Amino acid sequence: MSLRTLDGVAVVGKRVLLRADLNVPVRDGKIADLTRIERLSPTIRELSGKGARVIVLSHFDRPKGKRVADMSLVPMAAALGEVLGRKVRFGEDCIGVPAQQVIDTMDDGDVAVLENTRFHPGEENNDPAFAAELASLGDIFVNDAFSAAHRAHASTEGIAHLLPSYAGRLMQAEMEALAAALTTPVRPVMAIVGGSKVSTKLDLLGNLVAKVDVLVIGGAMANTFLSAEGVGVGTSLQEAEMHATALDIVAKAQAAGCRILLPVDAVVAAALAPGVATQTVGIAAIPADAMILDIGPKTVADVEAHLAAAKTLVWNGPVGAFETPPFDSGTTALAKSVAAATAAGNLRSVAGGGDTVSALKHAGVIDRISYVSSAGGAFLEWLEGKTLPGVAVLGG
Ligand code: 3PG
Repeated sequence: MSLRTLDGVAVVGKRVLLRADLNVPVRDGKIADLTRIERLSPTIRELSGKGARVIVLSHFDRPKGKRVADMSLVPMAAALGEVLGRKVRFGEDCIGVPAQQVIDTMDDGDVAVLENTRFHPGEENNDPAFAAELASLGDIFVNDAFSAAHRAHASTEGIAHLLPSYAGRLMQAEMEALAAALTTPVRPVMAIVGGSKVSTKLDLLGNLVAKVDVLVIGGAMANTFLSAEGVGVGTSLQEAEMHATALDIVAKAQAAGCRILLPVDAVVAAALAPGVATQTVGIAAIPADAMILDIGPKTVADVEAHLAAAKTLVWNGPVGAFETPPFDSGTTALAKSVAAATAAGNLRSVAGGGDTVSALKHAGVIDRISYVSSAGGAFLEWLEGKTLPGVAVLGG
């Protein structure tokens, strides 16, 4: 990886356009999670401390090229000010006179946020004229939005062709963590992939079987594999049309020397509901009128035995319906084992994706994972082996 970083870059007195990802979760009009803002702050502190004028660009939500009042970055700018403990100015547009006026008032070390880039259709179209308007506001471009790097948009890709461009510290940390997990990992490498549908994770599974030594498949997607292999899965969620594909993945894994671990037992119930009566059964004994909602204790032990030997772990997706207790047990047990192996220095663990992060928080172990990506879609596309346009343009 030859990402151009901020090391040795002179920024004093320069207008630095910093692409951030302020696309944070908002519930009832309030920011529900500050993680992305907190993880962006070291780059801003560094640039500002070195005397740059830091102009933050970001999208929020999907306004589809129009100004949508509810999708303004005003609350994110205020939250950024609180996290940084300093004044953050706000420009009511990301281009033109409103942007220029704010930038003209900035001194060295000042920070400003400009309004949602997606209020302009040129952003998602990667329109060269829009990219040029953005670029005209700065001297240097820094991209710290790894989580938006799978989008070839004007503020993530187009602009980087027009200004000297570098990766911010969060972008750099994400890329270093991912490279250590999959490009140059210490072996054996293990992956845990969960979630409900094989069809949404086909590219991921296909890429991982060629790269990892052990692949644990959990969640409802495991049901599709089990059913494809002739196991009766009762009323479980599964994709019958993906059976042939699942068998192809198994064959590909065998050819690549990757061991696939599927559940050997399961927690089942008549329906996915809190407080429903459950049963733990061997995988060959799923009742016809029951559905698999979590992995069972024997499966947990099986995965833990492989974890004990693993040196690197990549995790994307819960292995059960963890949002509805008691079907969180399998995911929580694995999360605790991964955290313990990581804390003991035996494992480098890298996790990402919205549900995975929620599950790790729910298990109370988020601080004991080596690296938790701030990205959802970008993390997945990277694991799928795809080139991320926002990274490639920075030399990565
Ligand atoms: C994300 O939250 O994953 C990124 O900000 C990208 O958002 P998008 O899916 O709307 O492009």
